Amino acid sequence: MPWTIEQIERRFLGFMEANGHVVIEGHSVRSPTDDVLFTTAGMHPLTPYLGGEPHPAGQRLTDVQRCVRTTDIDEVGDDTHLTVFEMLGNWSLGSYFKETAIPLSFKLLTEEFGIDPHSLYVTVFAGDREVPVDDEAPAIWSQVFTGAGVDPTGRINPLGEEDNWWSNGPVGLCGPDTEIFVYVGEEGVPVFGDKPEFVEIWNNVFMTYDRSKDGELTSLSQRNVDTGMGLERIAMFLNQHTSVWQTDELAELAEAVAATLGTSTADLDTDGTRSLRIVTDHLRAGLAIAAAGIQPSASRQGYVLRKLVRRSLRHAELLKGTDEGLLAAYAAAAEAVSQVVGRRWPDVGGSPDGDAARAVLNKEAGRFAKTLKSGVEHLHDLAEHGTTFDGDLAFNFADTLGYPAELAAEEASRVGMAVDPGWEARFEELREEQRARSRG
Ligand code: ALA
Repeated sequence: MPWTIEQIERRFLGFMEANGHVVIEGHSVRSPTDDVLFTTAGMHPLTPYLGGEPHPAGQRLTDVQRCVRTTDIDEVGDDTHLTVFEMLGNWSLGSYFKETAIPLSFKLLTEEFGIDPHSLYVTVFAGDREVPVDDEAPAIWSQVFTGAGVDPTGRINPLGEEDNWWSNGPVGLCGPDTEIFVYVGEEGVPVFGDKPEFVEIWNNVFMTYDRSKDGELTSLSQRNVDTGMGLERIAMFLNQHTSVWQTDELAELAEAVAATLGTSTADLDTDGTRSLRIVTDHLRAGLAIAAAGIQPSASRQGYVLRKLVRRSLRHAELLKGTDEGLLAAYAAAAEAVSQVVGRRWPDVGGSPDGDAARAVLNKEAGRFAKTLKSGVEHLHDLAEHGTTFDGDLAFNFADTLGYPAELAAEEASRVGMAVDPGWEARFEELREEQRARSRG
């Protein structure tokens, strides 16, 4: 039986609830703090409570948190990256620690999700200049494996700060962690290491430190546990899929979007598949961001939303093969995404926020449609004249046409223009000069 996203989510939260956790609502994708644009991890909205403030729901919490990592946006279209991904998490705010967290994780994976314990491998913190080696976590893992009849030899790798220290940024809460991997390779006796056959599925952070702006590390007043498991990735693994786009909800979404654009997943080649994933992902993320009350703009969160809309509109046009009826098709695609995603994310479904979010996306698409047409035509002309796409051209596109530079670069490669590898650096330089000028 395939595992649906909804079943996985229910199973995770139900298990945590049965183990004394209170299920709380995930926060919106809008960052709860000013230092970053979006919510980046399940712990992010819980920062004050991990720091010692009492949480109204108690000391053991669990939720599903939508997260945005903007660095992943340009990778969307491949098998694993999404603009918004969901993180299943459980937290101990000064309640249990490693002795409970590790067996709990093992139990969930093996008994609830039915993962063969022989396919599990873990890394633990080996210590660094500031913090001593974690010798408790490997001892607990060893007991847990042995208790399940699995020889722990070779399954528990101690690694340094680069691998087994987690922080949500250069300052703030942090701590050593233990990461859980599944082996997805061929039969035989695998040697655990940094190889693609070992897929990380869950991180347990023992969040016990705070790093100040001047780099100093102090111990927190309480010992916390912060865990995070990517929902789409665990769904992919449990169903033995090779792409998150094969999991039920994303597959349904992609098919629904394809239909609104007059195509079907079965008819698409590699480029078409990539375009469809981009449109679907960007609509899903764009709706979540707009439903959080963010408007498209020239900076910060608004710029991310603008880029998502503009890029998805371009890829929708590529799939449709014409700009005729493009905006109506785009609106239908947004509606389809909102209907499917809205089953689990009510704020983007048929709710006032969801309606407003769709209106925001459609308006932004409408505003960009003309620019899109002239920008694409202009790039085609330039390509015919053998022009190279460089930072100056990118700046010109962004500044005078309002055509996002990354989108112009993507289009330039598509139409076969030579792209100067240094275009981004030059573009940033010009942008900085412009900012300096406007600061006066
Ligand atoms: N906060 C940890 C992570 O995001 C669990 O990986």
